[in-house]
Amino acid sequence: QEDLFKNVVSHAKEYGFIFPSSEVYDGLSAVYDYAQNGVELKNNIRQYWWKAMVQMHENIVGLDAAILMHPTTWKASGHVDAFNDPLIDNKDSKKRYRADVLIEDYAEKLNQKAEKEIEKARARYGEAFNEQEFVTTNARVMEYKSRNREILERMGRSLGNNDLEDVKALIEELEIADPETGSRNWTDVKQFNLMFGTKLGASADNAMDLYLRPETAQGIFVNFLNVQKSGRMKVPFGIAQTGKAFRNEIVARQFIFRMREFEQMEMQFFVRPGEEMKWYDYWKQTRLNWHLSLGLGVTNYRFHDHEKLAHYANAAADIEFNFPFGFKELEGIHSRTDFDLKAHEQYSGRKLQYFDPELNENYVPYVVETSVGLDRMFLAVFSTSLKEETLEDGSTRTVLALPSVLAPTKAAVLPLIKRDGLPELAQKIVDDLKWDFNMAYDEKDAVGRRYRRQDALGTPFCITVDHQTLEDQTVTIRHRDSMKQDRVAIASLRQIIDSEVNM
Ligand code: GAP
Repeated sequence: QEDLFKNVVSHAKEYGFIFPSSEVYDGLSAVYDYAQNGVELKNNIRQYWWKAMVQMHENIVGLDAAILMHPTTWKASGHVDAFNDPLIDNKDSKKRYRADVLIEDYAEKLNQKAEKEIEKARARYGEAFNEQEFVTTNARVMEYKSRNREILERMGRSLGNNDLEDVKALIEELEIADPETGSRNWTDVKQFNLMFGTKLGASADNAMDLYLRPETAQGIFVNFLNVQKSGRMKVPFGIAQTGKAFRNEIVARQFIFRMREFEQMEMQFFVRPGEEMKWYDYWKQTRLNWHLSLGLGVTNYRFHDHEKLAHYANAAADIEFNFPFGFKELEGIHSRTDFDLKAHEQYSGRKLQYFDPELNENYVPYVVETSVGLDRMFLAVFSTSLKEETLEDGSTRTVLALPSVLAPTKAAVLPLIKRDGLPELAQKIVDDLKWDFNMAYDEKDAVGRRYRRQDALGTPFCITVDHQTLEDQTVTIRHRDSMKQDRVAIASLRQIIDSEVNM
């Protein structure tokens, strides 16, 4: 699994999907740039989401709110006071760790130790690894594992209750050591706000302190009434938005899974008070179906219903995905009650109420939110699609079996050789099809190598122009996944590609 993840990171770089930010200066931790193919894949995921949410729902409209917002927004939303991660400093190594990550690492180590126990027992007893020994070893392993679970649960509870003393005690009790130095000299557990601050205004005296938004949602909440009135929207209705969000994550790792600058695709659905659970269930299922429609495999998804809820929510669930490092949160669905709109009413002094003509009454709507990370979607799609295949002749090929609708390039046109008018004809096919699809032209290297390169880029079709093409206007079309080749008329290409790559 670790190897798979390494492959994902190196493939993303080698084939122009993702580069570390400002790499000439050795990069910036947890910040990444999307390269020529990455930006296409990312745009396609965003568009796939936008179509499903906005185009396919008459009662959902889009919005593109600014990243910078009035600072009171973040007071009202609770982010100034409560958007924290607990940090632990190590006195000796002068390093800081996020408490939950440290515990998770520790639990992982215990798990590994448990697995080793079984292996050791197997080696020790060899053939004679009989039932009795298995039972005792297994019992010990189970004990380890349940201890891990207990640690994580206790830690989760203490962190959730903001009981930092308890977190500290837990760390001491377990004698957790600094993963790098082995030292156990921890100082206090502290809270650290995750918002990035910045300033508006030129002179130091009257500059205004601002934050880079840590979620896109608040831009939707403060525009709720503007959109409702100008769009004559009737509850229930939704506002969808995609855009950058920023969090000063303390421990940033796992590539684009946890970034400091990332993109969210969020939708806030405004409903009648009392009807929120119906809509919460509806959106949970609808969002899961959207994920499943990409065909990455049913068993790669699961729900995680939250028992401990954030201050604003009365129900919350994650859609978790089986990433190369295990099941982790991909999307959140939250029933946020009227918390945000009420808070903005209170802080702004303006009414954010809806007049419901059917009920003939005013109310502050309840909100069900769906929030998915675009970069996490990218990682889910990319890592699941990357495959190393052994072919019938024993050779291997690397193929990025992306859902065709998301593939950066839909078809590559390849002249068999670089003369006899084949390049010109190939270029003409590209020019003709590029109005409808993102196309590529490639004449470098032997055709077999060009196929392999397009496989690695995730291109669903390769179209080869040869001497026969000059005579009868037919080409070879090769399918990425099956590697099957068909002879077809140039005139039929548009329809063949279209039927595979459009939603
Ligand atoms: N408005 C609700 C909200 O922001 P969240 O669970 O904090 O909820 C929603 O974030 C989604 O945003 C997550 O499910 C994840 O996909 C993505 N996300 C959050 N933090 C991220 C980070 N540091 N890097 C990449 N994606 C992140």
